[in-house]
Amino acid sequence: MRPQDIIRKKRDGAELSRDEIAFFVKGVTSGDVAEYQISAWLMAVFLNGMTDGEQSLLTEAMLHSGEILDFSDIPKPKVDKHSTGGVGDKTSLLIAPFAAAAGVCVPMISGRGLGHTGGTLDKLESIPGYRVNLSLKEFRQVLDTTGFAMNGQTKEIAPADKKLYALRDATATVEAIPLIVGSIISKKGAAGLDAMVIDVKTGSGAFMSDPARAKQLAQALVKTGNSLGIHSQALITDMNQPLGSAVGHSVEVLECINLLRGEIDEGARPVLDLSIELAARMVVLAKLENTIEAARDRIKRVHESGAALETFRANVAAQGGEPRVCDDPAKILPLTDKAFEVESPRSGFVTKISTAEVGHSVAEAGGGRVRIEDKIDPRVGFITKTKIGDEVRAGDSIGVVFCDDAGRGQTAATRIQAAYEIGEAPVEPPQLVKEVID
Ligand code: URA
Repeated sequence: MRPQDIIRKKRDGAELSRDEIAFFVKGVTSGDVAEYQISAWLMAVFLNGMTDGEQSLLTEAMLHSGEILDFSDIPKPKVDKHSTGGVGDKTSLLIAPFAAAAGVCVPMISGRGLGHTGGTLDKLESIPGYRVNLSLKEFRQVLDTTGFAMNGQTKEIAPADKKLYALRDATATVEAIPLIVGSIISKKGAAGLDAMVIDVKTGSGAFMSDPARAKQLAQALVKTGNSLGIHSQALITDMNQPLGSAVGHSVEVLECINLLRGEIDEGARPVLDLSIELAARMVVLAKLENTIEAARDRIKRVHESGAALETFRANVAAQGGEPRVCDDPAKILPLTDKAFEVESPRSGFVTKISTAEVGHSVAEAGGGRVRIEDKIDPRVGFITKTKIGDEVRAGDSIGVVFCDDAGRGQTAATRIQAAYEIGEAPVEPPQLVKEVID
């Protein structure tokens, strides 16, 4: 078999066989298939799609590209959540300590920034010293001591996704259902989970902006997860505006730590609400509570008692980070005070936000990658309190861009201003949780 024959077959819209998919994914992992060939194949899959059969075979091959962790000796239910990606979507930083403090074991394998969306790993790395490249032994130690561990794909865990994920980001081939399913399920399957909750985003800042496509993705993720023996549930949630107030790296971590500390700013409230909902779903899947109401109460208790903050502090210390970030996040996190106001150009109501454009603006100001090897500037960010449905007057602040580079900061502010549509009539704010798919 030759990679170019498999690329040609997919390019021409034919169905790949089990052996062809296994050969290709093996070559991706070993490095025998060149990155330019992988990129061409990704584009062929993006343009021509995959049948359900090919999608399962791809997921299976990606899952078996590395080790499958076995935590069966840990006497706790192993449950995780994963998001399909959004702008300001930082819930993992709250959900992991919430669920762990509530008695769930959370072995979380996350990703870096993808397209216009931010990545949990990049956000965590804005905490000085925090490591997301733990060895398997270290990952297990952190899990044992703190109840949750956060890591990236490695050469042992989901190595095919490690390669494909970075190439999809750099080749505009992210928004394809089979690639998203393979990517997410191969990471979750490798983490030895009993159950998982998947937050499928829809709206202007999601990879599946169309609700019908988001539902299709949610159904595919749940079906594939269940077929691997991972009890799976998906929530379709709103991504028509940034989630919470902060978009960026340090600013998102700051928002999460403030929430963990009980400092609840109204702009950040949706982050807390969604995190409680998703963590509560994990508690029910873990069979620690029978009803979602009881599970929500359990999560609220670990939040309000400070137990979740202490769990987060223990995890930060165990993963090499500076635990004082929990006491004085604004002092420890790398931030900048170079600010660029985004003003409303007219009076009216916020009717629509091009949320992907907000994500791209922050990424291109230095908060994301253009090339795989680019370094992210954790100081770059956007903070907004303005949401869909809010009334604004001409000249009011919609938000503030933070960036050390004046040219890039001003460009981001101008782009973000254009991303907010101000209309004459008020509109209803979007509903945060739209549907649950079992
Ligand atoms: N999250 C992932 O891990 N992979 C995707 O493809 C999209 C979101």
